[in-house]
Amino acid sequence: MAKETKDFSKYFQPPSLTDAKKRGKEEISVHYDFTIPEDMLVFGANKFYMIRTYGCQMNEHDTEVMKGLLETMGYSSTEDKLQADVILLNTCAIRENAEDKVFGELGHLKALKAEKPGLVLGVCGCMSQEEAVVNRIMQKHGFVDLIFGTHNIHRLPSLLKEAYFSKEMVIEVWSKEGDIIENLPKKREGIRAWVNIMYGCDKFCTYCIVPFTRGKERSRRPQDVLAEVRDLARQGFKEITLLGQNVNAYGKDFEDLIYSFADLMEDISKIDVPRIRFTTSHPRDFDDRLIEVLGKRGNLVEHIHLPVQSGSTEVLKIMNRKYTREHYLTLAAKIRQTIPDVVLTTDIIVGFPGETDEQFEETISLVKEVGFDFAFSFIYSPREGTPAAAMEDNVPMELKKQRLYRLNEAINEFSKMSNEKLRGEIVEVLVEGESKNNPEVLSGRTRTNKMIHFVGSMEIVGKLVHVKITEPQTWVLKGEIVPEPIALA
Ligand code: SAH
Ligand code: SF4
Ligand code: F3S
Repeated sequence: MAKETKDFSKYFQPPSLTDAKKRGKEEISVHYDFTIPEDMLVFGANKFYMIRTYGCQMNEHDTEVMKGLLETMGYSSTEDKLQADVILLNTCAIRENAEDKVFGELGHLKALKAEKPGLVLGVCGCMSQEEAVVNRIMQKHGFVDLIFGTHNIHRLPSLLKEAYFSKEMVIEVWSKEGDIIENLPKKREGIRAWVNIMYGCDKFCTYCIVPFTRGKERSRRPQDVLAEVRDLARQGFKEITLLGQNVNAYGKDFEDLIYSFADLMEDISKIDVPRIRFTTSHPRDFDDRLIEVLGKRGNLVEHIHLPVQSGSTEVLKIMNRKYTREHYLTLAAKIRQTIPDVVLTTDIIVGFPGETDEQFEETISLVKEVGFDFAFSFIYSPREGTPAAAMEDNVPMELKKQRLYRLNEAINEFSKMSNEKLRGEIVEVLVEGESKNNPEVLSGRTRTNKMIHFVGSMEIVGKLVHVKITEPQTWVLKGEIVPEPIALA
């Protein structure tokens, strides 16, 4: 039976572009005093949790925080739905198909919930920040016990308790977004770690839901980021990825400090971790000082993910990207001049409202001119509440699909070509584990984030080794391990 639902207007404010654009004036508070209530520290003893994560690295990292919280409460993780006492869906709202997956999963979980009424089923992440989604869950998926937003993650222990004892669906979605909570537990696994350097986004690209689901831009204090990176280095992590929706805006919100993303990268380059990555860059704020710092290499790898979205200045303008085709091309050329072997990757949207054949051709020509090593390509998906959703979309779906197909052909051609250039070269590889389809073969990544497969023993998992590329393919490089030491150019 569906749970009763309470009036949630006091917890939830729907996304509003006007309100969101007015934001940002209030002080950001950083909290270092987070604690889990005493009675919750044993609440999860002998209980199991499972978290399904949809979405970007930011969401993956939020899942690590939720795992940290749950394990501090005594819960153990499980991959078996039937064993789980708590199941959380950490959702993504970026495109319609991301949301469809979650609603599909909720459909499957309904039966499980009927069999196991004690199970607590929660929905969190970016979809929870959308009013239409919360309404739909309340109306059609009344068996959900808990909905909480991206600004409420630290409230998980208390919310879980409420959900266990409440007859009502517990909903807590704040649009308050001024706070940073520093000392949350995190459960990291493997040899690569994510570190948030900032939260939110103030760019308001007209197609994008993220400024609404993640709130305003706020940077973590440099000393907190540096302390976390140093700690991860001490723990032996080999690769750290710095996370932000627009890392180049790092520090712009500090009122008492002049400290940019380039400063942060410079300071992090002095920490003893073999590889530092970052994602995502915005072409508008990518400055010369940053290129200069990245040019010093060391642990700063030669891979930059630099989403372009479109090759047409007119489309970029309607997307509110705040740069032109020429600006992007100049930036890419400058980066290549300082870091000649840099790998550039990108994101591209096709079929934006009003995109003409000529404008799409400009995207293809930009792809060819820059020569991306890889690109994520998407068909535009209208997101309720964003300005683009109100624009007339006169591009038929069939045409959007054709454009996507053509774009992918162009991208693949360059991926293949750039990998082919590596034939015979020896590269540094961080070994991740067995490859997916063949346990005899190990899988790892180059500094430029290319996947490489080679034969080797499990003892070298987690280590940096040198591999000679013998068989480059479009999606993966194949190679042979070479005995150390080898001096790399
Ligand atoms: N902050 C990052 C990207 C975050 S979302 C940046 O600005 O680059 C990842 C990618 O999803 C975007 O780069 C964009 O290409 C795509 N995307 C975002 N909203 C979309 C939408 N409504 N439809 C289709 N693709 C979208
Ligand atoms: Fe979305 Fe644009 Fe912000 Fe990226 S920069 S998260 S695309 S609004
Ligand atoms: Fe998706 Fe939210 Fe990331 S919408 S892409 S999970 S910031």
